[in-house]
Amino acid sequence: MKVLFVASEAYPLIKTGGLGDVCGSLPPALLATGMDVRLLLPAYPAALAQAGPLKPVDTIDLRPYFHPTVRLLEGRLPGTRVKLWLVDCPPAFNRAGNPYHAADGQPWPDNAERFALFARAAVALALGWTRQRWRPDIVHAHDWQTGLVPALLASDPARPATVFTIHNLAYQGIFPRATFDALRLDPSLWSFEALEFHGQMSFIKGGLVYADRLTTVSPNYAREIQTPRFGHGLDGLLHWRRDALHGILNGIDRREWNPARDPHLVSRYSAAKLGAKGPNKPALQNELGLPPSPQPLLALVGRLVWQKGIDLVLELLPALARRGVQLAILGNGEREYETALRRVAAVYRDWLAVRIGYDEGLAHRIEAGADLFLMPSRFEPCGLNQLYSLHYGTVPVVHRVGGLSDTVSDIDHPTPVLKPNGFVFSQETPAALLAAIDRALALYRQPTRWAALQRSGMRQDFSWSRSAAKYAGLYAGLRPTPVRNPPVKTRGSSRHRAGVRRTTRAAAARR
Ligand code: ADP
Ligand code: GLC
Repeated sequence: MKVLFVASEAYPLIKTGGLGDVCGSLPPALLATGMDVRLLLPAYPAALAQAGPLKPVDTIDLRPYFHPTVRLLEGRLPGTRVKLWLVDCPPAFNRAGNPYHAADGQPWPDNAERFALFARAAVALALGWTRQRWRPDIVHAHDWQTGLVPALLASDPARPATVFTIHNLAYQGIFPRATFDALRLDPSLWSFEALEFHGQMSFIKGGLVYADRLTTVSPNYAREIQTPRFGHGLDGLLHWRRDALHGILNGIDRREWNPARDPHLVSRYSAAKLGAKGPNKPALQNELGLPPSPQPLLALVGRLVWQKGIDLVLELLPALARRGVQLAILGNGEREYETALRRVAAVYRDWLAVRIGYDEGLAHRIEAGADLFLMPSRFEPCGLNQLYSLHYGTVPVVHRVGGLSDTVSDIDHPTPVLKPNGFVFSQETPAALLAAIDRALALYRQPTRWAALQRSGMRQDFSWSRSAAKYAGLYAGLRPTPVRNPPVKTRGSSRHRAGVRRTTRAAAARR
């Protein structure tokens, strides 16, 4: 089985969040099941710098849609045997910093053109329009940046089968009608049964309408996105495609996230040697300028966007101050959250440490040094940080949504399928989050029960091999199927539109 993975980020080449983790870990996990997986990514400067030896193997002719030369560079995804192809087109991808936005947080103005070009390069490879003899049986595309790939492939009778994974429905790649025209897409794609979404063009609909199979990154999120609360205006379409939609949980890449071998830590440990987690806490306190206190150390690492419920935590700060805990926050994203966090860090400097920025090593040291990990996300397609926390014996406190409810089982109300491993709250309010934190703090004062809860999480199996086997099962026997365009208009109440507007703001922070 030959699979072409098409993605806009993959660790360690480039990563802004969990999408990068997944696209860096799943291809090698699939390779280990015996598949021939190749990874296609834009040649951003960071990817070129990280990739190691690369050789130009082809040029891709994208005229009349795009005139500059597009080169295909070949190498390996570092640390793996996965063959890597980079789409090298300097006018589109040779710019410093984030793949999706400029230093001022605004999306690159030509994002639609950049990712349309990337999609056309993927289609050229998939259909054998280049000198490459390798032809995939399956093209697996991820998130809106690659949404045009299934749409462009759909009309070709010789096409491979397509899978589209939704990592986050909030980011849809919405552009004005004029952009659709400028991209010179087939006019038949301008329809509410295709790419049109409330008078605008939606990249993600290309995946949702045209892929043979849809997946998302947890079973619960697969159900949630069929409802108005979580569907971002696309719940009708997703419900209509429910037979093609599967929820497959993300996993942990143990090569990167393993407390027994993590090079970022001062003290390595495991469930059997839990005591060795201890020295990581004073080391972290020291690194962050917090006093060396035995009080519980809470932590949050993530993109600072509305999705992640940062404002719930901000509201709780006075209450947390009264509880005598410490809190470490690492993240970057929307300016308003960054500014608010910097401000409160100055007020509560004795017990609150805020680091605005992106720091892979610090993220590992926080996972190891903290006692409790907060994920009060409003929605969470899967979430990787709670999985890392579980594996690092740092007990998660999470909102009962998406993948968080598939992976965290409350000690007082465990789910039937998972041993208790954390604390879960149901209401999207600061009070509900605080009540869950209070339950956690009470248990923290009972060291034997606390250690049992830590070990329970550390011993659970969230490895990629299980999830890779599920993807392999999905690919097996998958054939291109004729597209049935949705008979109904994608729904859009004012509430949905509000959701889309909100996330468009969030999109500036990342995608
Ligand atoms: P999302 O994909 O929505 O951002 P996930 O929990 O799936 O959320 O994955 C987030 C990933 O990004 C994790 O690997 C996390 O450690 C990492 N991450 C997020 N923000 C930062 C940051 N500021 N510094 C370092 N790592 C970060
Ligand atoms: C998204 C989601 C996150 C998920 C990640 C990887 O960015 O927000 O929940 O874990 O993608 O699939």
